[in-house]
Amino acid sequence: MSSRIAVVPGSFDPPTLGHLDVIRRAAKLYDELHVLVVHNPGKEAMLPISQRLALLEKSIAEDGMGGNIVIGSWSMGLLVDYARDVNAGVLVKGIRSQIDVAYESPMAIVNRHLADIETVFLLPDPSHAMVSSSLVRQVAGLGGDVSPFVPPAVAAFLDTGARGI
Ligand code: PNS
Repeated sequence: MSSRIAVVPGSFDPPTLGHLDVIRRAAKLYDELHVLVVHNPGKEAMLPISQRLALLEKSIAEDGMGGNIVIGSWSMGLLVDYARDVNAGVLVKGIRSQIDVAYESPMAIVNRHLADIETVFLLPDPSHAMVSSSLVRQVAGLGGDVSPFVPPAVAAFLDTGARGI
């Protein structure tokens, strides 16, 4: 496994500015970065994986990132199986608070047991510390403006309910 290839996994339901910030930082650290929409068996999703993938692709393209970024999805099993397939030695996660540390640490340790893969935690800009997909889902569902928290492509999608972007 290569430590120069990393995976940023997540539900991305929907992608937020916090996600983009972590992806931008990780893309500077690794030669190849796989941004992966993964099914989380513990969460009920708002958007289908194909829609999350389309929003992520558009958001990353609009942001100007992309040279070393591969965007994909994975719902076939363990995340570490995907990492192994692409020869990635590192998982990257964003950490906003102690709550995230408590949530992420067991997954990092399980993934290390499963496949000897390390998890690297990155701190997003503090301006994104309060942004979460679950809050965005809630605000959007109740008709609020989520544009301060999500990339323009996601804001447009949630605002208009547009399909098939
Ligand atoms: O954005 P999320 O919901 O916090 O991401 C969590 C995710 C999807 C990365 C995690 O649930 C996951 O890795 N799911 C794949 C199944 C798996 O490999 N589980 C065992 C390791 S925790």
